[in-house]
Amino acid sequence: MVEIFEKKIGYIFSESGLYEPHMITFTVEVGEKIEIGDIICIRHPSKNNIPVFYQVVEVPVRRKARDYEEDLARLGQPLIDESRNYPRARAKQIGYVEDLDKLLRGETSIDDLVMLIEHIKPLSEVYRPSDEVIESLLKPNEPSIEVGLIYPNWKHTYYLSLPRLMRQGLLVVGGVGTGKTTTMITLIYRVVDKILNELEGKPHVLIIDKDGEYGSRELIELVGRDNYIHIYIDDISETEYLDRKLYVSQLISKLGFPDLRSKPAKAVQRAVMEYGGDRLELTPEFFEKEILPIIKSKHRDSYSDIVWRLNIWKKEHSGGSGGLKLALSDVLKYIKEYVIVHIDLSTTRDFNHAYRVLDSILYLVYNEALNDPGFGCIVAIDEAHLYAPERGGISLASDEEISKKLRNTIHLIATTGPRNGVTLFIATQRPSLISKTITTQMGQNIIAHRVEDVDLERVEEIMGEIAHRVTVLPRGWAMIKALASKIREPLIVKIKAKTYPTSTGKTAYDRFISKT
Ligand SMILES: Nc1ncnc2c1ncn2[C@@H]1O[C@H](COP(=O)(O)OP(=O)(O)OP(=O)(O)O)[C@@H](O)[C@H]1O
Ligand SMILES: [Mg+2]
Repeated sequence: MVEIFEKKIGYIFSESGLYEPHMITFTVEVGEKIEIGDIICIRHPSKNNIPVFYQVVEVPVRRKARDYEEDLARLGQPLIDESRNYPRARAKQIGYVEDLDKLLRGETSIDDLVMLIEHIKPLSEVYRPSDEVIESLLKPNEPSIEVGLIYPNWKHTYYLSLPRLMRQGLLVVGGVGTGKTTTMITLIYRVVDKILNELEGKPHVLIIDKDGEYGSRELIELVGRDNYIHIYIDDISETEYLDRKLYVSQLISKLGFPDLRSKPAKAVQRAVMEYGGDRLELTPEFFEKEILPIIKSKHRDSYSDIVWRLNIWKKEHSGGSGGLKLALSDVLKYIKEYVIVHIDLSTTRDFNHAYRVLDSILYLVYNEALNDPGFGCIVAIDEAHLYAPERGGISLASDEEISKKLRNTIHLIATTGPRNGVTLFIATQRPSLISKTITTQMGQNIIAHRVEDVDLERVEEIMGEIAHRVTVLPRGWAMIKALASKIREPLIVKIKAKTYPTSTGKTAYDRFISKT
């Protein structure tokens, strides 16, 4: 028989005389130890034998001060009389499950947890439930992945329900070196592992990796060499365009116009707008075959100037390495075939190009998922504040139009992606610099490592005031608030790393001390 009310540890007691169900204060019995994060319970005031769970959020000690005590301390003779210390604890309601048997069998889902809203009885007993009861409270009955162990007793595992996670997405935040990438790659590993090996499905993950850290051996071994592909972003050519404005701006520069002000440049722009097809290719051959005839018939004055420029472009083009590059459609094909497509930005110097390519790939993935109900994809973006910045934030692309377009595409996926088969996993170092649309949408499942004070406000908006605790968390620890967890209240968790980011670049220090 599982012991629900295993050990009595105190009584509900309110100094002010007011008792509310959502937050209780209780006395702690002599000899008992209570820590922030502990899960405790009381008896439901009207339902027989049903526990209502609470989580301890504060552990104040009350001691009535006497006048002379400060004087004694000043004289170096403090009066240490422990019998006058009254340890208390404040705990926030987690909720209860109506069907006790279902709870004990570990079969409750997230929706089975309800909140107590009736009066609680002053001086009711407070208990520590048994470990089995807490375990069945925490584990979702749908397929779930393990994240880490819950503070303070490290006995219980924090789980995220996989169907929920895929419906809502994930946001990982944290300052420099706090463990964001480790958390992301570990969760990608667990999701892929679960889907491949337990549910026997086939996941697809597109990783956008600014620093080239996601090619970990464990991850590659998990999916197998022939299900993982690593692509440097500069090896992708963007010859296909869906957006006419963007196409025109690239075409103009290929034809050697400084801007759109001259008459022939305007003629090129008009001809592109008048073109009847919807796929545009940035090659001299396509231009000559599809666009030039329009110029010839409708913008005759500019024709000879443009032909001359086209010929120069042709010469440059044939000498280039264009033929070795991957087309966007190849990348999409890989994403549909492979389990992991790892796009690496670590070696690029042309962020305008990189952003345009990312925008096109994300758009193609989203479009594909809309059109093909059999295709779904997780898009994992590390350092996402760089690609979807809040106004005034940082972008690595110098062209504002390009940045804006990429951000809009990420917004589109964040807001409408999950129900159409595309789920975002986002990590960012600067939650206050990433667009609010992202944090609002993705904040339903947030893993917050330690952040700097400047970013605290944004994290508090998502997690509530309790988020101030994240400023003291050590590396690898995080506060998690997730709708994909059975417990909606934030808990502190030590992330159980399954694999680590590969370290790439060497610092000046590494180079100074290297012997070779
Ligand atoms: N959960 C964890 N368990 C054990 N060690 C960890 C954990 N998380 C991070 N670390 C250690 O901290 C190092 C830095 O972690 P990581 O690269 O994930 O941090 P980050 O926040 O992504 O850093 P950056 O700001 O540089 O991107 C890791 O290489 C690893 O050694
Ligand atoms: Mg990182």
